[in-house]
Amino acid sequence: MAGPGFINFRLKPAALFAWLSTHGTRAALASGAAKTAQGRTVVVDYSSPNTAKQMHVGHLRSAVIGEAVCRLLEFSGARVIRDNHIGDWGTQFGKLIWAYQRHLDTVALARDPLEEFERLYKLGNSSAEADPAVLKEAQQELVKLQAHDPENLGLWRHIGEVSVSAFQDIYQQLGIRFDLTLGESFYNDKLEPVYQELAGCGLATESEGALVVFHPEHPRFKTQPFIIRKSDGAANYATTDLATLLYRTEQLRATDVLYVVDKRQADHFEQLFLTAQKWFEKTGRALPRLRHLDFGTVLGENNKPLKTKSGDNIRLKELLTEAIERSFQLVTAKNPELPEAERREIAQIVGVGSVQYADLSQNRSSDYVFAWDKMISLDGNTAAYLLYAVARIHSIFRKLDLVAGAPAAESGATSFETPAELALARKLVHFPDALGAATINLRPHLLCTYLYELAGEFSTFYNADKVAVAEETVRARRLLLCNRTLLMLETGLQLLGLRTLTRM
Ligand code: ARG
Repeated sequence: MAGPGFINFRLKPAALFAWLSTHGTRAALASGAAKTAQGRTVVVDYSSPNTAKQMHVGHLRSAVIGEAVCRLLEFSGARVIRDNHIGDWGTQFGKLIWAYQRHLDTVALARDPLEEFERLYKLGNSSAEADPAVLKEAQQELVKLQAHDPENLGLWRHIGEVSVSAFQDIYQQLGIRFDLTLGESFYNDKLEPVYQELAGCGLATESEGALVVFHPEHPRFKTQPFIIRKSDGAANYATTDLATLLYRTEQLRATDVLYVVDKRQADHFEQLFLTAQKWFEKTGRALPRLRHLDFGTVLGENNKPLKTKSGDNIRLKELLTEAIERSFQLVTAKNPELPEAERREIAQIVGVGSVQYADLSQNRSSDYVFAWDKMISLDGNTAAYLLYAVARIHSIFRKLDLVAGAPAAESGATSFETPAELALARKLVHFPDALGAATINLRPHLLCTYLYELAGEFSTFYNADKVAVAEETVRARRLLLCNRTLLMLETGLQLLGLRTLTRM
């Protein structure tokens, strides 16, 4: 679908030339795109890991897809609020605190706090399973925490802070900066009105001691309850999500809320949205547009969810480190004469970019197979291929002693003539369509496919038509094509969340 200002009919050479001449900057591209999402305030709920645990490969997709979606929407004029809805509350803290107070290894804590928290939680869990007395003590720790006992609250707070600061290292590598990190605990004092309103307007009913919502018109949810208060009186994931939605509507003034969460939570979100729709209608509130941006599982080459050889989850931190190391090998093979420090810097961008791009280039709703050799490669629809295309255009300008992107190189250009020039120009003018499709459908792979095709079209052009010809008007128009290709590739990759290079 094309938004206003987008062109998608077949243009004559003069019209292609005119459009490309006037769309030479990111601002010019953005002003065309801005109409798609103008006036919207979009809360994007993404990443959202649980505290006291390492981020593993399962957390990759939400972070990467969420960030790309944020950037696409911003470019199209939306006001985006990035909200990291971390899981920082729940019964697991009783066991964790119990173990922390008795079995903390301070050396391990200093070395890798999340690993130590994980060890302690597992220890607390297994001890409570083995010994009812421990279970009771752990439950008491939880009750104390819930009653805001200063010691347990302080410990819980410390665990949360340490966790968030460890997540930060990953976010920094992925170029993510949240506007808000409102964990589930933030809503603890906002849950009561949810019960009251939902019961008050007749949506929620008591069932076996729990407070639940049924949806009689739905084939499954007419019998499968949406539990909003457990029979022991405790709140749960659903309660918090309802309170969170109210907060986002009333305090953040969201017109849209996007949840970038694993497709295995599809039922939860369907029930949440149905419940919210009725609740808001009955209480005279306007419901923001709600969307679950689902995604599939990251699979290993055996087509099972990706794990280490010993069957553990792969830590995101280690995955990124390996990607960077493998990219260093690739860069070194391609360009051994570059100084090592520079190759390391390039490898950082190529490595992280390869992981991001392998994820984004697939339709998010599908599972995808994580294959190192395919994703860190200069061939195919990969980050390295596209980053290399960008670097190559920079080098064309360098060799001519020109600054890429500077208008001087293209002044005096005449309209396109050769078949390769025209084919590239035709591809270039479709950038807004690809961008619009990716943004409106919230599917970044649509932009990836376009960028890959554009890079291919550029290669064809570059092999067919010499750029540095003597005739100035011809040279200028070919440089204009180089400039625009560079602009679209760099803009596109950056909107996907990648960093780009001038040399590779
Ligand atoms: N912390 C949850 C998990 O790890 C994801 C939260 C997603 N966001 C939400 N509003 N439910 O599964």
